[in-house]
Amino acid sequence: AQKEGFVNAPDTDYSREVLREKAQQALVKVKDSLGKTYLPLINGEYVQTDVIIDSLNPSKSSEVVGQIGLISIEQAEQALNAAKEAFKDWKKTPATERARILRKAGDLMEERRHELSAWICVEVGKILQQADAEVSEAIDFCRYYADEMERLDKGYNYDVAGETNRYHYQPRGIALVISPWNFPFAIATGMTVAALVTGNCTLLKPAETSTVIAAKIAEILVDAGIPKGVFQLVPGKGSKVGAYMVNHPDVHLIAFTGSREVGCRIYADAAILQPGQKHLKRVIAEMGGKNAIIVDESADLDQAVAGAVFSAFGYTGQKCSAASRIIVLDPVYDAFLERFVDATKSLNVGPTDEPSTQVGPVIDATAQKRILEYIETAKQESTLALAMEAPDNGFYVGPTIFGDVLPNHTIAQEEIFGPVVAVMRVKNFDEALEVANGTDYALTGGLYSRSPEHIEQAQKEFEVGNLYINRTITGAIVARQPFGGFKLSGVGSKAGGPDYLLQFLEPRHISENI
Ligand code: SER
Repeated sequence: AQKEGFVNAPDTDYSREVLREKAQQALVKVKDSLGKTYLPLINGEYVQTDVIIDSLNPSKSSEVVGQIGLISIEQAEQALNAAKEAFKDWKKTPATERARILRKAGDLMEERRHELSAWICVEVGKILQQADAEVSEAIDFCRYYADEMERLDKGYNYDVAGETNRYHYQPRGIALVISPWNFPFAIATGMTVAALVTGNCTLLKPAETSTVIAAKIAEILVDAGIPKGVFQLVPGKGSKVGAYMVNHPDVHLIAFTGSREVGCRIYADAAILQPGQKHLKRVIAEMGGKNAIIVDESADLDQAVAGAVFSAFGYTGQKCSAASRIIVLDPVYDAFLERFVDATKSLNVGPTDEPSTQVGPVIDATAQKRILEYIETAKQESTLALAMEAPDNGFYVGPTIFGDVLPNHTIAQEEIFGPVVAVMRVKNFDEALEVANGTDYALTGGLYSRSPEHIEQAQKEFEVGNLYINRTITGAIVARQPFGGFKLSGVGSKAGGPDYLLQFLEPRHISENI
């Protein structure tokens, strides 16, 4: 159940001129501070590195947002040793004190809200409004997990006459957090603070393309009073340093959000018992999706079209929750496709620091190339319904819609992670659900319908972790829509929900004869 009385941090109301001005001022200030160097935080010190890479603005790829120091294997080893040492005290630190630090971090994020949104906007190409929602989500994670830890810390009491029975939770040890670039602030914060508040010493390895934002999280945690060695920022090459830490015998748990390929690799590697390792590793992995929205013949098409456009093209289709398949019942297929294409055409594609932009770039050149290849494959298999123009001075791909896509087509099965949508025609509602469920994934799904029977059937049969009825399918809110999937979308329980912290804890029971 949702924690009683939990209040979500409100997003900025950009209809208020004074707040729009503040946001613009923050953006100007951030742009004046581009190009600085961000170093790893190991045992309380920012340390020099041999390797430095550039983090680029995807909206304007000639702009260096920051220079990122990447750690070496030796530095990873130092960080793990520091974490081991710090764990001795951190595991004894009362849950209320750990929760206090999280709440302080949440308050600091609120104070820096506009600045943080501006960094998200320039480093990963997200429009301000959605960057701002991410800041709210990160604040919610801090406050909600603080509350949740205090709840769990009470444990359970199963006393009987002559015998006390106490059930409580203890931290696991060293947590490695591997965070994605698409929610560089919210997801990195969520996984990190969950690991910290449960008493684990935590190493954050962010996606390389979003390390400046991860460095802001580090600053905030330090300012909130996190002890040295308890939290460390360890940017590095995933294939080298990331893999080294995943395989390390001292790591107890890995919280990962990212691609299916990397998630499956981590799951397999973590299962191997290394020399000297005296525990099994816990892996919490949130991976991809191939999310569908079903539109039936009773749907309000105005609502369905607007919801599909936002769910598919918000953050340029790069949310793991994004809609990439729209499954439409035959009687409304033609009308829906025409209106969906028209509505998409009205989107402004451009740099995310322009207030009028609705769809920004994709994250980097590799993603751009991969998405364009998917578009070429889809052209061979189905019918191109819309390919929008996009600027050429950044990593842009214009919103693209294909019609007549069949369930076995590549773009109906593989996660593209870009602004490409497959519209699929089905004869009836049973077939709609069969097609919707016919992928390896089970993350989000949507239904637009005014039929109580269809709504009930979807609730029972639509295989997704988060089902949204008559609304958009992205933007889960902490403690309201706990988020996460199953099948090949992930292993582990829902972020922002009542089971999440349990994964970072070890339950114990003590029975005493008195
Ligand atoms: N939690 C995000 C959403 O719901 C996805 O990671 O859109």
